Amino acid sequence: MEICRNKQAMRDCVAEWRKQGHSVALVPTMGALHDGHLTLVRRARDWLDQQGGGRIVTSIFVNPTQFGPNEDLAKYPRDEANDLRMLEEVGCDAVFLPGVEDIYRPGAQTIVETTGLAKMLMGRLRPGHFRGVATVVTKLFNIVQPDAAAFGEKDYQQLTIIRQMVADLDMPVQIIGVPTVREADGLAMSSRNRRLSPEDRAAAPVLPRALDRAEAMVAEGAPLSAVRAELRRILRAEPRGTVRSIDIRNAADLSKITAITRPVVILLAVGFGDVLLIDQRVAHP
Ligand code: PAJ
Repeated sequence: MEICRNKQAMRDCVAEWRKQGHSVALVPTMGALHDGHLTLVRRARDWLDQQGGGRIVTSIFVNPTQFGPNEDLAKYPRDEANDLRMLEEVGCDAVFLPGVEDIYRPGAQTIVETTGLAKMLMGRLRPGHFRGVATVVTKLFNIVQPDAAAFGEKDYQQLTIIRQMVADLDMPVQIIGVPTVREADGLAMSSRNRRLSPEDRAAAPVLPRALDRAEAMVAEGAPLSAVRAELRRILRAEPRGTVRSIDIRNAADLSKITAITRPVVILLAVGFGDVLLIDQRVAHP
């Protein structure tokens, strides 16, 4: 597995693969890897195999521009040695580990923003977050120039934003959406889970439990207000969690709905101590 610590090394590595005729897939991450991330690498491999084979780059970059002033960038978990071991085992071909100065040169002025999608839902709670994400993903696409890139449905709004950006700006990258990978008790895997107290960790599966129930109600034709009320009831019954948001939106573009007539996405955000957990589910009427 190649380790590329700056843009030039990364470009040289991909150029060599291109000369050999390989397709290239990218898996962008911020490190502290778990099986959710590794599943993105596996799905990227499946995609490449369908193209007749190719090479996978995983990027590990804790992107400062997507953290707000009150969000602790310095506390973001970092475990490079373990990340590299996991990526080697799963069959990743190269890891891109750039420094902040290499990615953000002084005097840069250009940003990428999906003006509507970035301001709703999680974007309201985290102003500027999705601008930072869209900008760094654009830069990663320009450096690696992949044929495809994999993103998790766990960050549903992020995935929707990336798809919108790629379509709007004619980026020649196929976006692979990967279903959320979960722990045995249903909790969505996240690097944040390790910051939960044992009691909060035991309580956190209330999110997938609420989503299971809501999905079943949508399938049975329950009205929007009843699904929302039931989600609120289940989440509030868990005293350790503080409900931050419950949203039911059009699954295709996250627009608001007044009735459930098409697939919807249910988006939950619940705080446990100072850890904000999110989870989502697409439900079909
Ligand atoms: P990060 O939080 O490290 O996540 C990297 C990718 O892994 C994202 O596409 C995310 O949706 C996916 N992922 C995380 N947990 C998952 C799970 N349990 N199942 C499936 N996929 C999961 O998201 C980011 O980093 C950053 O915003 C990034 C896109 C790298 C831009 O900086």
